[in-house]
Amino acid sequence: MIKITETAAPFAATISGLKLAGLEDESAWEEIRRTWAAFPVLAFPNQPLSIEELEAVTTHFGDFGVDLYVYPVDGHPNVIEIRRDADEKAPPFAADAWHSDWSFFETPPAGTLLHAQIIPPVGGDTVFADCTAAYEALPEEDQQELEGMKALHSAILGYSTKGAFANDAHKRSMKIRVSEDAEARHAHPLVRVHPVTGRKSLFINPVYTVGIEGMEDAEATEFLSPLYTHMLQEQFTYRQSWAPDMLLLWDNRRVIHAASGGYDGHARLLHRTTIAGEPVIAT
Ligand code: SIN
Repeated sequence: MIKITETAAPFAATISGLKLAGLEDESAWEEIRRTWAAFPVLAFPNQPLSIEELEAVTTHFGDFGVDLYVYPVDGHPNVIEIRRDADEKAPPFAADAWHSDWSFFETPPAGTLLHAQIIPPVGGDTVFADCTAAYEALPEEDQQELEGMKALHSAILGYSTKGAFANDAHKRSMKIRVSEDAEARHAHPLVRVHPVTGRKSLFINPVYTVGIEGMEDAEATEFLSPLYTHMLQEQFTYRQSWAPDMLLLWDNRRVIHAASGGYDGHARLLHRTTIAGEPVIAT
């Protein structure tokens, strides 16, 4: 029987009591998808999954999303490695860098699955912020102002030839693809409506949101900064610690996330897939 355990954060839960590998019971998948709509961060502890089984699990949530800037695992075009070797000196991928995965795409991924292979004995948590709760806590006049705006998203700061990964001072084990096409900008509604729940969320993040339509970039940076401070308040955030074989599923339409470090000298390896999304719905 599926057991749903709530966490201290109202948007994160743990699911146990079932084996995902080879699970064919469509009613169980329906219950998982329903639970995911209520809890956009879902942990499934103790789920040993081969890469093929992770791929099969992903397809119960939709088509595969595209990972343009990280080369996939050989023979598995929809799976990437989030990897840092024990002797690696480059900062952990996405450490302290709050983002919604690939938000600069025209149709950003609906969700992401991350499956733990090697987990360090200390550190390496993934942290989340609930952008729906943050939106709903704003005064009504702020909500109205934001609903009329479009934010500009781009991969420039990370993946362009001028970006952070092109200028890594240390060798990195992750297979990052740097490209000039990462400079492209894409506008999305600053407040989006979730296609399943109908709830509104702030759809901005400090890594990929590089401007606001109709504003100078410097003005946009100043405008966005207090919003990020608001979104990252403790009452909207949740910290997920890892164990080997844990699967984590999150909803990029509702949460932003960041990796954390704190495990120098230890290896960390996870397999990641994304679930294709839909065009961002404005209010
Ligand atoms: C990611 O941003 O997809 C990676 C998160 C993590 O490594 O904890």
